[in-house]
Amino acid sequence: MFKAIFAALTAMTLGSSALAQADKTDAPRWSIAIHGGAGTINREQITPEQDRTIRSVLAKALAAGSQILEDGGTAIDAITATIMILEDDPNFNAGKGAVFTWDRTNQLDSSIMDGSDLSAGAVAGINGTKNPILLARAVKDHSPHVMLSGEGANQFSREQQLDQVSSDYYATPYRLQQIEDLLAEKVSAADVDYKFGTVGAVARDSQGHMAAGTSTGGMTGKRWGRIGDSPIIGAGTYADDRSCAISATGSGEYFIRLGVAHEICTRIRMRLPEAIREAQRAVPKNADGNDSYVIHASEFRLSDAEVQQIADDVIAELGALGGDGGIIYATPWGQAGYSFNTPGMYRGRATSEGQQSVSIYGDEE
Ligand code: GLY
Repeated sequence: MFKAIFAALTAMTLGSSALAQADKTDAPRWSIAIHGGAGTINREQITPEQDRTIRSVLAKALAAGSQILEDGGTAIDAITATIMILEDDPNFNAGKGAVFTWDRTNQLDSSIMDGSDLSAGAVAGINGTKNPILLARAVKDHSPHVMLSGEGANQFSREQQLDQVSSDYYATPYRLQQIEDLLAEKVSAADVDYKFGTVGAVARDSQGHMAAGTSTGGMTGKRWGRIGDSPIIGAGTYADDRSCAISATGSGEYFIRLGVAHEICTRIRMRLPEAIREAQRAVPKNADGNDSYVIHASEFRLSDAEVQQIADDVIAELGALGGDGGIIYATPWGQAGYSFNTPGMYRGRATSEGQQSVSIYGDEE
């Protein structure tokens, strides 16, 4: 808020070139955040080697998205490329490495949304496509629909000539062990780490456009065609240039019930005009009784703390309902961050201003 007031004040004093300068230095031109799932991720459970491996894949995915944005590419292209890297890596519950259903099959879910025109695509309960995020994108770009499911979606994928894989492509020994443990009742279906590992990315590009995408194998041992939040626009994924881009990971049923992704974006969108009015009312008067400076609505942005609070409030409501997990966000003002109620979340973020981090545990930045 203070930066916005400063920008407006500077513009009035020094003219429009100074305002352009203030804009350039104030807000990142682009930003990106990624996740690879949340859960009881703590230092006791993760070996140093696993820690290194996860961080290096997250860094690789973050770098790919960042490069596209740095080169002037679109948010939707950046998140697509980022998510493909996470889908191709067996450490995450998406694409290769997806969890198994009760019937020892894989049924994958994915969605994508472009905040510039609110176009969206989603697929649920699919298999055979190497990169489900590409199928969600194809639904968005090349079909009149938003969501396709099951065999129809698989057929659409083949018609779109997306890379196809055999049904054993997704399998890893670790995921096979998980479903065997679950079927042998060695663990509960509600065990937090048997549900999580979804991947996602959100971004704001240098044109000011937002995008979000999410991809998952769902929860281990799911049956009856269960579908979680990841392919549901408004629950696991949402993007709107006016407010934010969100991708979620966690206990999907709760994210669906709260419409978490849309809820956060809506709170940001509704808070903005209110915050502008508050700032305008707070402008001190000069000796003539007029406002001593002008707050330009177009230059105004919500502060980092305010955006974080909105995200944290919605995740607190999720927790109060009994849900676990978290979200990543990007805003039109270049902020990129996270909120989660689990001990850890695989995550990373980067901006054009040089911020770049990859984190795992809750006590990291
Ligand atoms: N959040 C992933 C799922 O519930 O399927």
